[in-house]
Amino acid sequence: MGGDSLQAYDVPERVKTYDIDMDVMHPLRHKMIEIILDIVPFDQEATLKVMDLGVGTGILSARVLKKFPNSKVTAIDGAEAMMDIATERLGPMADRLNWIIADFRQLPAETLVADSYDLVISSYALHHLNAGEKLALLKKVVCALKPGGWFLNADITVAEDESIEQRLQQLRVEGVTSRASASDKRFASVESTRAYLSQMQIAENDQPQTAASDLKIIREAGLPAAEIFWKELNEVVIGGPKPADR
Ligand SMILES: C[S@@+](CC[C@H](N)C(=O)[O-])C[C@H]1O[C@@H](n2cnc3c(N)ncnc32)[C@H](O)[C@@H]1O
Repeated sequence: MGGDSLQAYDVPERVKTYDIDMDVMHPLRHKMIEIILDIVPFDQEATLKVMDLGVGTGILSARVLKKFPNSKVTAIDGAEAMMDIATERLGPMADRLNWIIADFRQLPAETLVADSYDLVISSYALHHLNAGEKLALLKKVVCALKPGGWFLNADITVAEDESIEQRLQQLRVEGVTSRASASDKRFASVESTRAYLSQMQIAENDQPQTAASDLKIIREAGLPAAEIFWKELNEVVIGGPKPADR
């Protein structure tokens, strides 16, 4: 049985090292954020209403707020402990970000006003939902997007084939072990890294889908033009626009 993805992040001790840990565990996160920023088709001066699902310490929202100086972000996260680090990262831009502490599975109605967002973004957060929960959330997100608005998600996936998945996990464990600081006991050896990552995946209730399943879910939610824009090993940038006539 999996753990609780909200409790797992709502721990001040863990949050302190969150971004350093992410750089060790997901070094492609920065590249994936660049890809999201490249894909967003709006004029840089446009007045944009944005929602970030699982804002965490604010890395993606900060980049969006910087690139689009007339944007405002509704930042959703279930873990309040992440908020302080995000606020520090954002500096004066924090005034343009409205925090909503909520579970993706029970978003308050005021965050989901129909046809109200230009852009909905997410990074490394939606794999905490199962396929049914993701579809239910994305249907609401599509309804809340303006016609012509975009949904873009950077996240982890799982391979279709078990032997390929095993190989990808082996590469991941080796990569994390080699990038980690020598003094970090969690990642001192391939064995300790594997044990730590397995325990973390259970505690956080990780439930990544295959890239094909994620694409199907997004299209079924109401974004028929959705695409996988980028994929490397088990990480993807995926999403698309809401049809202009809906
Ligand atoms: C791995 S972090 C990603 C944070 C940030 N987007 C990033 O790229 O670093 C996942 C975030 O999703 C949030 N989260 C996980 N499950 C959630 C849920 N069911 N509802 C709301 N937030 C959730 C966690 O609290 C955490 O801040």
